Amino acid sequence: MKDRELMAAAAKARENAYAPYSQFTVGAALLSKDGKVFVGSNVENVSFGLTICAERSAIAAAITAGHRDLEAIAIATNSEKPAVPCGACRQVMAEFNPSMKVLAATMDGEVEQFSLRDLLPLPTQGLLEKRQDV
Ligand code: THU
Repeated sequence: MKDRELMAAAAKARENAYAPYSQFTVGAALLSKDGKVFVGSNVENVSFGLTICAERSAIAAAITAGHRDLEAIAIATNSEKPAVPCGACRQVMAEFNPSMKVLAATMDGEVEQFSLRDLLPLPTQGLLEKRQDV
């Protein structure tokens, strides 16, 4: 899967974003290590705190479909500059791959690439050593 295909999937997911309050529409496309793509968009709520970011929507879709080996995420926004994931999303992404590749793109085709390792150098470790395979 090419970066530009993943970015196209994120741009398409953005079209379904529900952002009537901010008008900031976000689409995300996650690539699993076995080549599958899972998408998400932001879903806002009248009670602002219940809003779900596109990145976490995509993570939920991948995990629900049984894919935890996540390699890369593309994020498409209708902003002037590419937008990086919020802190909460970074931590949730780090749960599955602390070095995930992150591509951030605008509708005009401006793209920036990061490693999640640089965006979140010290994800919380908390109960990590207690994690069991289930
Ligand atoms: N949002 C995302 O979906 N992802 C980001 O990386 C940044 C923020 C959403 C949340 C809210 O619906 C809107 O963008 C404005 O913050």
